[in-house]
Amino acid sequence: YSPIRNHAEELAKAEAGVDQLDLERVDRWYPKFHIASNGGWINDPNGLCRYKGRWHVYYQLHPYGTQWGPMHWGHVSSADMVSWRRDPIAMAPSLEEDKDGVFSGSAVVDDQGKLRFYYTGHRWNNGRNDADGQWQVQMLADAIDDDAIKLEKRGMVIDCPREKVDSHFRDPKVWKQDGVWHLIHGVSTADHRGQIWDYTSKDMVNWTFQNVLFDDPNPDVFMLECPDFFPLKDKNGDTKWVIVFSAMGSKAKGYMNRNENNAGYMIGTWKPGEAFKPETEFRLLDCGANYYAPQSFEADGRRIMYGWMSPFSENAPMQSDGWCGQMTLPRECYLGEDDDLHTVPVPEIDKLRINTFEHVARPIEANEETLIDEDAEAVEIELNIDLKDTTAERAGLKVHATPDGSCTYVAYDAQAATVVVDRLAAARGDRGYRAARLTDEELSADELKLRVYVDRGSVEVYVNDGRHVLSSYSYPSEGKRAVKLSAESGVLAVNKLTLHDM
Ligand code: FRU
Repeated sequence: YSPIRNHAEELAKAEAGVDQLDLERVDRWYPKFHIASNGGWINDPNGLCRYKGRWHVYYQLHPYGTQWGPMHWGHVSSADMVSWRRDPIAMAPSLEEDKDGVFSGSAVVDDQGKLRFYYTGHRWNNGRNDADGQWQVQMLADAIDDDAIKLEKRGMVIDCPREKVDSHFRDPKVWKQDGVWHLIHGVSTADHRGQIWDYTSKDMVNWTFQNVLFDDPNPDVFMLECPDFFPLKDKNGDTKWVIVFSAMGSKAKGYMNRNENNAGYMIGTWKPGEAFKPETEFRLLDCGANYYAPQSFEADGRRIMYGWMSPFSENAPMQSDGWCGQMTLPRECYLGEDDDLHTVPVPEIDKLRINTFEHVARPIEANEETLIDEDAEAVEIELNIDLKDTTAERAGLKVHATPDGSCTYVAYDAQAATVVVDRLAAARGDRGYRAARLTDEELSADELKLRVYVDRGSVEVYVNDGRHVLSSYSYPSEGKRAVKLSAESGVLAVNKLTLHDM
């Protein structure tokens, strides 16, 4: 740990290396209201915070191409979480420890009010001669201006005990608990188990290994990326701890784990110095086709989370437009009456609404398709389905419906007791539907509430006030993008249908 050569030169080079997008030309799938790359590849949200009156989202960035590559930190900031300013690239590889990548990490404000960042320094050679040799260590950097634009690297704070670790050792998350700083990160152990380790510190620089916070019982999982850990109050006012991680290696089963890697959570209890005690099984944070590496932060008494809409293991046709990757909307996390985690868009997002149209509710006949909006490029749709009077086998919304007949279908499937997002032909070869399974309680309720955010290249579906979420890319073809109501083999009864142009 010592102040060392910084990254000014590398930053200038990276900034010049970004192929700035011509947004007029590439607006077919480029988001209107999601944070996205302005050229190059982006992945995980990093360093999320509210600092001196501004919201900050940093993100994993490869400025020199639309594929994953040597990682930098890109940066956007905002006064209102709605309109974002593109700030200069914040970090670039420049030190021996991070020469092949400035990997994911988090932000924290210290007791003097200084904004500090912990991140992973990545280099390919671990000095052990194994094929996938990576050497990953935890690093510190500090913001040196009020807008958190200039970051000064401080160097390594935790080296990797390479005899105990199988290459993966990354993604620090830091917070203060009962007067002690904690840093947790993900580990793949020498015997390929996915674990989360907890370090503690008094001065934020010298860290001591405390204990294994979590050892994933799933034998298929070999690494837990981007761990997060935070308390929430349950309905009785008791504190529960939520552990979040992005699991590598999990296998698909039923509706679970359908993506290459899958991000989810468990709810339980924790005392500092002890392991986390889960009281639930692993559940997905988002059942969509494109979701990974979420990170949360606390601001204004809220727990807010961003995730990355990941196109891993899919065609990513926006790459031919010169960009790849976007964030989900910011979601507030809370424990519901059902004791489960809910995530809903923060109310700030409502400020994006330009016009609102209330549709008169009426039952829709069997197999009928009803045109609701003939050109909805960016729109929020609230659809409350009357479960008592709906007899259709499947019913819901067709969005991104283009003249060639393709669409993405957001449907309540009464037989399978799910909400599905089926990218019928709007996935450019990545067909594959995703489903969220409804609970018995949800199925016996009077209505099912869907809130659907349609952006130019994605669909985000919130079911029953964020009890389930599904985020998927969707790439509509040429022509106007309609929204239709659809009911198969029966009637869809609608309690509420509201559209907000965004
Ligand atoms: C998750 C991840 C992190 C890592 C970063 C590298 O998507 O693999 O574990 O820090 O991305 O870009």
